[in-house]
Amino acid sequence: MRIGIFDSGIGGLSVLHQALRRIPEAEFIYYADEEHVPYGEKKEKQIKGYIDEIIKFMLKKQVDAIVIACNTATSVATKEYRSRFPVPIIGMEPAVKQAVELYGHLPGRILVAATPVTIAGDKLHHLLEKVDREDKVDLAALPGLVRFAEKGDFDSEEIMEYLTEELKAYPLHQYKAFVLGCTHFNYFMAYYKRIFPETVKFVDGNAGTIRQLLRKLGDAGGSPDSGVSEAVLYSGSARRVTYYFSGRLITAGERERINAYMEQLDRLDSI
Ligand code: DGL
Repeated sequence: MRIGIFDSGIGGLSVLHQALRRIPEAEFIYYADEEHVPYGEKKEKQIKGYIDEIIKFMLKKQVDAIVIACNTATSVATKEYRSRFPVPIIGMEPAVKQAVELYGHLPGRILVAATPVTIAGDKLHHLLEKVDREDKVDLAALPGLVRFAEKGDFDSEEIMEYLTEELKAYPLHQYKAFVLGCTHFNYFMAYYKRIFPETVKFVDGNAGTIRQLLRKLGDAGGSPDSGVSEAVLYSGSARRVTYYFSGRLITAGERERINAYMEQLDRLDSI
């Protein structure tokens, strides 16, 4: 089974990182649109053009399913648009519904952070109309985090300064949950832990996306989620992934860069 995963850049590696463990029998194609990142500050029409190109690329590579590991791209690529293609396409949206279902009963507010396109998009606002009836959810656009992530900067005082500045108008002590609504945001967990109260719960859409992928593959007669455990080791996973940057194979230097991101994701597993 071959699965295509794409993002505007290296954010979607956080989805790939989990997919490698959860679906040990699959082969992956990871596509980072490094020529066009960030999507989160571009026009909807432009982003749709990039997505079209990437999906065509993935179909030529004969993938069995495509994961849009990017909340921003999913926000502009509606369901109807996605159903135009012959293989299942699984999108991602900020996991607000999950946060409300899990923590809605607790006192406090929920903060959802994402890119400016996702925050301004109709898709998120329609979702909030459905799940945030009590008006307990706040939104924050944090495009600077995409830039830090793309630079491979996971550890600098500038990150803390940026977050402190961007979030200074928010009632940080009131949050019970923080939703990471952009796959590039996963790299900075250590900073969120410094900023929010100790009791805050972190919610991202990665595990839900992989569950949805497994469901779709099951529906399509592929491999259902049969006994694949979180604990499956993924040694040798490097050989199971072919990486592309905007349609070309990555260089050895870029491969080093990817390794640094995967190592950061490994480290985050233990914090
Ligand atoms: N990683 C993408 C997301 O999940 C967006 C980053 C960008 O602005 O390109 O929304």
